[in-house]
Amino acid sequence: MSMDATETGVVEEAAASFDGTPDARTRQVLQAVTRHLHALVRELRPTQREWEQAVDFLTAVGHACTPTRQEFVLLSDVLGISTLVETINTDPRGTQGTVLGPFHMTESPRRALGDTIDLIGTGTPCVVTGRVTDETGAPVPGASLDVWQCDEHGFYDVQRPDEQPPGNGRGLFTADEHGRFRFRTVVPSHYPIPTDGPVGGLLQAARRHPYRPAHIHLIAEAPGMRPLTTHLFVADSPYIDGDAVFAVKSGLIVEFTEVADPDEARRHGVPSPFRHADFPVRLTREDA
Ligand code: BEZ
Ligand code: FE
Repeated sequence: MSMDATETGVVEEAAASFDGTPDARTRQVLQAVTRHLHALVRELRPTQREWEQAVDFLTAVGHACTPTRQEFVLLSDVLGISTLVETINTDPRGTQGTVLGPFHMTESPRRALGDTIDLIGTGTPCVVTGRVTDETGAPVPGASLDVWQCDEHGFYDVQRPDEQPPGNGRGLFTADEHGRFRFRTVVPSHYPIPTDGPVGGLLQAARRHPYRPAHIHLIAEAPGMRPLTTHLFVADSPYIDGDAVFAVKSGLIVEFTEVADPDEARRHGVPSPFRHADFPVRLTREDA
């Protein structure tokens, strides 16, 4: 072992210290993290003070985490890393995946097809329909669809427990024998990601806005199929071209079309006019 670290000598020594890691993937990860962090520090050449600030920032991110708040995930989100990991793991033959986000923290109430997930009734009425298929276009009967969204003011039920009953904006549906699903809701609003922690400070320091375009979250699952975590984005929403967490993908932008036909409204059990969004969901087989 060398006693006199040089800038490039120390990286080789630190990487080699993991040579004996028995698990090959763990060894690869530890050595890659070491090499990339050394390269970053050699590029940035921080002062001691700057390095302390970096450690203090990460410490604050850790302290902001609670059982219902994950500030590290938020950091990964605003750096685009969550979207990158999701993109690496999305099967290109299926519907594009996107970030899970921090608000899938309570179980969605089981609801029947056609039910409403809106328990308040003050927003713009909306009907969402779709069909779950496999990569060949064949229906996936009985697929499960877990959906969650904020209200028309941009808040999830867990953020406003005094104003929204638990389960507002959430539903767990089972697709019919043709893979079809439908539910009633209100058009969600765009909203800011949480900014009261260190990640909010980072956005402010960078003069970045915290907003996400309006969206409905969805997890689709069926036996033998790869689970899909994604969103439908409201096409005419503010920030559709500037999501704070870089999660918008072209295939996920959906027109929420106004329907002014009272018969159609009656058929769906919503007031007229209402908005209609149709979102085909394509899953891919785990073994294909
Ligand atoms: C969300 O869509 O719920 C979300 C995603 C990433 C960060 C914050 C919120
Ligand atoms: Fe969201």
